[in-house]
Amino acid sequence: MGKDNKKIAKKLKPAKLVKATKKEVVKAVKTERKTKNRKEAVKKELEPIVLQAPRGMKDILPEDQPYWEQTRRVTEKLARDYGFSRIDTPLVEFSNLFNRSIGDGTDVVEKELYSFATKGGDKVALRPEMTAGVARAYIQHGMNVLGKPVKLFSTGHVYRHDRPQEGRQREFYQINYEAFGEQDPILDAQMIQVATRVVQSLGIKAVQIQVNSIGCPVCRKDYKDLLVSYLESKSNKLCVDCKRRLDVNPLRVLDCKEDKCSQVAASAPQSVDHLCEECRVHFKNLLEYLDELDLPYTINPRLVRGLDYYTKTVFEIWSGSEEGRKSALGGGGRYDGLVKLLGGEATPAIGFALGAERLIIEMKRVQAKSYKGLKPKIFLAQLGEMAKKKSLRLFSELEKNGILVAESFGRGSLKSQLRVANRLGVEMTLILGQKEALDGTVIIKNMISGEQETVSSAKLIDLVKRKLKNDNVVVYHDNHDNH
Ligand code: HAM
Repeated sequence: MGKDNKKIAKKLKPAKLVKATKKEVVKAVKTERKTKNRKEAVKKELEPIVLQAPRGMKDILPEDQPYWEQTRRVTEKLARDYGFSRIDTPLVEFSNLFNRSIGDGTDVVEKELYSFATKGGDKVALRPEMTAGVARAYIQHGMNVLGKPVKLFSTGHVYRHDRPQEGRQREFYQINYEAFGEQDPILDAQMIQVATRVVQSLGIKAVQIQVNSIGCPVCRKDYKDLLVSYLESKSNKLCVDCKRRLDVNPLRVLDCKEDKCSQVAASAPQSVDHLCEECRVHFKNLLEYLDELDLPYTINPRLVRGLDYYTKTVFEIWSGSEEGRKSALGGGGRYDGLVKLLGGEATPAIGFALGAERLIIEMKRVQAKSYKGLKPKIFLAQLGEMAKKKSLRLFSELEKNGILVAESFGRGSLKSQLRVANRLGVEMTLILGQKEALDGTVIIKNMISGEQETVSSAKLIDLVKRKLKNDNVVVYHDNHDNH
C-alpha cells in the first residue's frame, strides 16, 4: 500500500476494519480516496475566481496600444541606428545567476525576486532585469569572438515583488541596451546619448541626465571603508533599513529616500573624490565627451544604483520637469567585472534599461502626441448571400494592397451596416449587393456628399487608391521607418 493510502487507512474507523481482510481494507481505502477526490473537486469548483490581474500587474488595453507601438518603433529604430542586434533571453533563469550578478544583499534579490523550484527541482527565478541573462547568453554562445563592441538589444517583461504604486509595478516592461568589449568612456557617452535620444524621440523633450562614478573594486573598497566609518558615526540617525544596509550594502544608504537618511547622506564622503587615477581619468573623459555632445548632465554624488555589478560610470535619465520627476525613466552603467564573475573572460561592458510604463506615463503627461490606432477610411458593406461570400475575398484583396478597411460581415441589413460605417466616420463605403455580385461591379458611396458611382470590380483597387491619394489619406504600409 502506497504512503498516501496508508495515511487514509489510518484515518478510517478502526472498528469497521478490525476484522477486515487485506482486500477489504484496500477496497475501503479506494472508496475513501474517491470520496476525498470528489469533495476536493467540488470545493475547487466553488472557489470564486478573482477577476483581477495579480497585484502590481496590469493589462495593456487596446486604447493604450498605440503608445506601446510608438515606444517599440522608436526603441527598435534607435537600436538599429546605433548598431545593436536583437537578442531575446528566457523570462526564467537559474536563481543563482541573479544572486551572483545583481548581488545577495540587494533589494532586487533579497526582497523582490520571484523565485521558485520547478517540478524537476531546479531553483529558478523570473528575471528581475535583463543584464544578467544577456551576459549569461553572451558567455554561453561564445560572443567574445565577435567584433567588439558586441551591442545587444532586448525588450520584455521583468518581475520584482516590490510595493506597487504609480510607475512601480511587479510586472513591468524593460527596454534594454548592452555593449560588451569596450572600456573607452566614449562608449559610455554614446550609451547616454542613445538613452537620451530614445526618451526625446518619444516626445519627452526635457530630460535630466544624472551621472556619477562609483569607481572600480580597488578604489571602491577604500571608499566603502571611509563611508562605513562615517555612517557608523551617524547610525542613530539612520532608518532601520539603512542600519542593516550598513553591513550588507553601505552605498545604498546614500540613495535612501527617508528624510533623516538623506540628511546623513548629504554630508557623506563622495565616491568621485576617492577614485583611483584610472577611474578618475575615465570619468573626466566621459564628462568631456558629454560636453562635446551638448548633453546637459548633473553629477549626482549620491547616485549609486541598486545592483551590485556596477563599476565606474553609473547614470540615470529623469524627466526634465519637476512634476514628472517621481522616479527615473531609465538607468544603467558600466559593469566591467560581471562577465568574468559569471565565468567568462574579462570583458568590460556597459548598458542601460528604460521602463516602458514610466515612459508612457510621461509621454501622456507631457502630451507628447496623442497616439491613436490607424483608423480605416473605407467600409465594406454587403447584401445577400452571394455578395457576402464575394465580399470576404474583396476584403482580403484590399488588405493585400495596403488599404485599411472596416466591415461588419455579421450584419445582414444594409441600413445597419451603413450605421456602423457612419459611426466609424469612414470617408467611403463600398457596397456589394446581389446585382453587383452578378455584374462584377461595386458601388462606391461617398459618405460625405452621399454621391454614389458603380465601378467594375477589376478597376476597384486602383480607383480606391487614387481616391485615397487625392483625399490626402495615407495608404497604410506595414513599415514604420519614417521617424
Ligand atoms: P534599473 O534601474 O533597476 O536598472 O531599472 C531600469 C528601469 O526600469 C528604471 O529606470 C525604471 O524605468 C524601470 N523600473 C525599475 N523598476 C520598476 C518597477 N518596479 N516598475 C516599473 N518600472 C520599473 C536595471 O534593471 C539594469 N539592468 C539596467 C542596466 C542595463 N544596467 C546595465 N545594463
